[in-house]
Amino acid sequence: MIPFIDLAAQQARLKPKIDAAIARVLAHGAYVMGPEVRDFEAALAAFCGTKLALSCANGTDALALPLMAWEIGAGDAVFCPSFTFAATPEVIPWTGATPVFVDILADTYNLDPEHLEAAIEAVRGEGRLRPAAVIAVDLFGQSADYPRLAEVCRRHGLRLIADSAQAFGCTLHGRHPIAWADVATTSFFPAKPLGCYGDGGAVLTGDPALWERMDSLRVHGKAVASDIEARVFDHEPKYLNARIGMNSRLDTLQAAILIEKLAIFADEIEARQKVAARYARGLAEVCLSVPTVIDGGVSTWAQYVIEHQNRDGLAAHLGALGIPTAVYYPVPMHRQAPYAHFPQGPGGLPVSDAKAKTVLALPMHPYLTPAVQDRIGEAVRGFNG
Ligand SMILES: Cc1ncc(COP(=O)(O)O)c(C=O)c1O
Repeated sequence: MIPFIDLAAQQARLKPKIDAAIARVLAHGAYVMGPEVRDFEAALAAFCGTKLALSCANGTDALALPLMAWEIGAGDAVFCPSFTFAATPEVIPWTGATPVFVDILADTYNLDPEHLEAAIEAVRGEGRLRPAAVIAVDLFGQSADYPRLAEVCRRHGLRLIADSAQAFGCTLHGRHPIAWADVATTSFFPAKPLGCYGDGGAVLTGDPALWERMDSLRVHGKAVASDIEARVFDHEPKYLNARIGMNSRLDTLQAAILIEKLAIFADEIEARQKVAARYARGLAEVCLSVPTVIDGGVSTWAQYVIEHQNRDGLAAHLGALGIPTAVYYPVPMHRQAPYAHFPQGPGGLPVSDAKAKTVLALPMHPYLTPAVQDRIGEAVRGFNG
């Protein structure tokens, strides 16, 4: 069986460096919030050209932290796509706010700015909820249309989160999503373009006050500098809790591993472009949709997603030939029981419903060789179902 994502190939490339990084952490023993955590946060922010990064326990908490820091809650509407992983809408009801599902564009699978605007206007017209924020997703590795989304958010006074869990490192016109969004979040789940060896996540922001509030929230609402300033205590302020928070820290060991992985990440993104271009050449002449990248965009190709009318037949055919595939996502979130009662933009979500029936992800990673890709391409072309 061909691997769907080959983490072993990357580990073989980095093994001495990762072994040494782990040994350093074992030697100093600061397993929680050790020096590698702050070093990694600085390197991550620099990679995206923004001021600050705040690491946390996973990409789901990374979405919850800014919502909590902005005190979004009951009575607020947060707009997001339905054609995404559960984590995107899941964090919204955590805060007491209501997710409002918005449809996607048929070519890029990312949030449709026109439908977003219609959904905001409909919520406002109804008067029951207050439009508060948008979570846009950079699905399968590529940037959503941030110039247009940010413009809609600005006009309506909404905050914008870029959920870049699948696309950390993607750019649009040479800039990362954080150039337009109030915050961008990512996940370091092992299969992500920049993954660690367990769970991890981060929030990027250019706003130091927001960073500080999220720093408090990730450690049980601990008092941070601005909570302590100009106050006198008759106890150690370390155990002063200024707000209700959570426990969401990135392990020092994972930060140490991520420092090594980030050092080769740009090179891996480059390699992913070559793999994607080879797929496109090999598959374009068969009657399939190959992925469209937004004008001016560079995808990190977390997934290489094709479409086929007989998607399940094609998946079975490839599986029989030892080629694994995956369907992201067979059931959009608005069709899932815990989410089905949440509001949708006007006219519903016809594109999300249609895409769920045709999308199929092929093996994709930076170490995929031309020979293996040829085998996959031939197998796809050989399907006549
Ligand atoms: C779009 C999206 N958002 C958020 C997440 C959550 O990340 P994590 O699994 O690290 O909590 C994922 C992870 O799969 C994702 O794909």
